Order: sequence, then structure tokens, then C-alpha cells
Amino acid sequence: MQKKSLSDIAVNGKRVIMRVDFNVPLDDHKKITDDKRIFESLPSINKVLSDGGRLILMSHLGRPKGKVNPDFSLAPVALRLAELLDRPVIMAEECVGSEVKKQVSDLKDGEVILLENLRFHPEEEANDPDFAKALAELGDVYVNDAFGTAHRAHASTEGITHFIKTAVAGYLIKKELLYLGKALHQPERPFVAILGGSKISGKIDVLENLFKKVDTVLVGGAMVFTFFKAQGYQVGKSLVEESKVELALKILEEAKNKGIKLLLPLDVILAAEISADAPFHAADISSIPENMIGVDIGPVTIETYRNEILSARTVLWNGPMGVFEIDNFAEGTLSVAKALSDATAKGATTIVGGGDSAAAIAKAGLSDEITHISTGGGASLEFLEGKELPGIAALND
Ligand code: 3PG
Repeated sequence: MQKKSLSDIAVNGKRVIMRVDFNVPLDDHKKITDDKRIFESLPSINKVLSDGGRLILMSHLGRPKGKVNPDFSLAPVALRLAELLDRPVIMAEECVGSEVKKQVSDLKDGEVILLENLRFHPEEEANDPDFAKALAELGDVYVNDAFGTAHRAHASTEGITHFIKTAVAGYLIKKELLYLGKALHQPERPFVAILGGSKISGKIDVLENLFKKVDTVLVGGAMVFTFFKAQGYQVGKSLVEESKVELALKILEEAKNKGIKLLLPLDVILAAEISADAPFHAADISSIPENMIGVDIGPVTIETYRNEILSARTVLWNGPMGVFEIDNFAEGTLSVAKALSDATAKGATTIVGGGDSAAAIAKAGLSDEITHISTGGGASLEFLEGKELPGIAALND
């Protein structure tokens, strides 16, 4: 379904209430460690401001569980946004109530206010109609540009659309749908998907949906050990989802029947424990000792996966290949990141689902060398599973 966007409405002189996903990571000193989500919201924000709209931004930050908690204040985001926009951003102390109403009615054309964390109120996640209505009353038109939160049916993403006539998508949502949608629906072939992460259960729906579209699937992360167990290998102390062993066999069978090339690692990196100073070595998957844990894909696998990635025209990556937070176990994940950047340079379309894989690309310093890195973790996963995202479904057709 085509959704109306910010380009389809006039905002001059109007109060534009915009849901963004400013759920950014902060360090102990409340310093933003990755401002990609703020940066990616700028096209919509600048459009409203340059067209003379009065902008009311709202977001959640973290999971404060419906209670006011200064650790989850959006104040550091207001400061960063003001720097990026090179203009003042008013930081409201609340997101609803009389004081906010007054601050909003005092806004002049081209001014911007950021409301305090929506999740300080339990009504946000409960999608409470009265709360949604209170938010809606702050604006004349509503823009949703929070792709990262589009899989949540919350008051600020779904509920609000019942109380405001004009509800359109922002440019970030449009961009995410363009890239993720194209990969799913009109991929240039060969189309290679790389799936990592620790559990088959977290990726099974994506796998099922991608099986309808891809030519090749490369599997990494701890979930490979459930496949190996299903194939009768010894996996030592590696993570195995015992209840999914049967499912792993079914997946392998299904790939075969559908003519999909599903590759599992040929070798892995083993360590006695998951710690930064644990000794480690590469081993063939047929020789994993009882007391060892698989923590990454091995060098032979890295080479094989790299060649597959370089021969693709579309590459989609979701989930790390190993415990990449520990440098000694990051080689597989960083090599996949590098292969994606090289494939991009060769003209392939490369797409990275958000979350851990996006963090790995950033760790590799390759963020600018990928066609599209999604700002959504859970949201991009649900999109790739073929699910409808309620925050997008609710917008004007
Ligand atoms: C995210 O970081 O994935 C989004 O901001 C959604 O956050 P949530 O998982 O706490 O709803």
C-alpha cells in the first residue's frame, strides 16, 4: 500500500507533530555514542522547518517502564539535535499537560520543540486512547518518521492516527521502505542473504519469508550449532537450542527442495570460554572437542562467504557471525562487513538490518560504504518477516 508522505502535505504555519525514533545509545556520562538515528531524521525535520512549520518532536528513549526516570531523559538528544540543526531546540519537561500545550501554542513558524520521553507514561505503550488524543491535540498534522518503532502499536505511533486526520510518513520511513521493500520484492539476482545471531527461534520467520525470495543463504552466529547438532556433529559446549534441532533439519530439507543454496560454516573459532583473554583456535566443524565453545566462523568459511557475497547483486545481512563484541571473536563479522563494502563498490545493492549488524559495520568503520543500513532493529526484522508494521499501516493511504 502506498502511503502519503511529508511531500504530499503543506506545513507552512501548521503545528506538525512528528514521531521520531531518538532511542539512541548513551554512555555513563549521558553522551550519545551513536547519533545515526538523529542524523537520519534530519531530512524530514529540515523540510518542516524550511517550509515554515512549527515542529513538535516526540520519541521514546530506552525502557523506563512507565515511570519518570532522569536517566532516560531526552535532554542530551535535544542538545545534539540543536548542534546538527544549528538552531535552538526547546526541551519540554513533559510530553502532555498544560505546560506543554502552552509551549506548543507559543511556537513560531520554523521553531522546534522536543517533548520529554513518551515512555515516562505507561499509557504510551498501552496505546491508551486518551493519551493518544492528548498527543494528537498538540498538532494540526502528524508525521511518523520513527521507522525503528514502527513495529510497535503505541499511542504515539498507532493510537494518535485515530485522532488526527492528516497522518503521513516521513522521509526516513519512505527510505527504509524503499530499500528493504526492493530487496524483498524486486531484488536484482543473485540475491544473497546472510543470517547470524544466537538463536534459530529469533530468525526462523525471516528465514521462512526469505526462502521465497533468495538464491543463497549464508548462516553464521551461534545458531549454526543447532544445525550442526541436527546433522549429527559434536558441538562441545556451544550454544544449542535443543527444542529447535528438529526444526533445523526441516529448514535444511526445505532449502534443498526449493533449490536454495544454504551454506553453513565449514570451520569455526573455538574458545574454552567467552572472555576477552581466553585462548582460541580455528577448527573444522567435524572436530569440536567436548570442552570448547564455538565463538565465530573460521577462516575457510570467511573466504567461502566472501566469494558468495562478491558474486551477488543484492546482499541482505542480519545478525553477527560470532561474539563480535570481543575483538578475538570479531574476525568473521568484520570480514562479512568488509565483503559487503567490497560488493557495494562492485555495484551490488547491500542492505544491513539494524541492531547488531549495524553496530558491527560501524565497528569496522564501513558505515559509509553500504547501500543502506536500517535504523530499525526489531522493526527491520519484522518487515523482513513479511509482517505489517502497525505504525506504517495506520498512516493515510
Ligand atoms: C529499537 O531500538 O529497536 C526501537 O527504538 C524500539 O525500542 P523497543 O524495542 O524498546 O520498543
